[in-house]
Amino acid sequence: MGRSRIPNLYTLIQQDHRYIQGLIDQLTADPAQVSYDDTARRHVADFLIAAESRHETAEELVLWPAVRRRVPEGHSLAEEGLRQEHEAKIVLDALRFGKGDSLRPLALEFSSLACAHMAFEERSILPAIRKATPWPGGWVLGFKFTMAKKIAPTRPHPNGPQRRLGLLTRGLFTAGLDRLRDKVTGRKA
Ligand SMILES: [Fe+2]
Ligand SMILES: [Fe+2]
Repeated sequence: MGRSRIPNLYTLIQQDHRYIQGLIDQLTADPAQVSYDDTARRHVADFLIAAESRHETAEELVLWPAVRRRVPEGHSLAEEGLRQEHEAKIVLDALRFGKGDSLRPLALEFSSLACAHMAFEERSILPAIRKATPWPGGWVLGFKFTMAKKIAPTRPHPNGPQRRLGLLTRGLFTAGLDRLRDKVTGRKA
């Protein structure tokens, strides 16, 4: 397999961001301009919640520890990233219960937090970690990121752990519960 076929961490994170941005765009679209109804909008919100929860947990397990270890000033950059993620998670958690008219203001609030956060990662974090990681480190981190997404929770948990140790103990337990709830309620993520 050619080197270029294996996605590295930077590509995987950017791909996730594009997907998440697409869902945000659908959710925040002016209701007068689109043909989908509240039920469809609720489904989009559920996809967004699951995608975002997995993405941020995988970053908490793989990206931020690597930034702390390798990037100069990595510690304060990681703290800033985690602070932004926590702020967005609180709104994402509220979005789980949004219905009809209450969904749009929450979606708009989440959109502004998530867009600023993704821009911060793409402008300040990804170039710095790429520069600090010799080949094939980006691919190794990409593999770990993919694995982390498979075990990550599908709901936000703003009061849960954000650090690797907590995520691998309490976080894994909550991820298992999330998946069980997905199964019971027939929710697809
Ligand atoms: Fe993030
Ligand atoms: Fe991200």
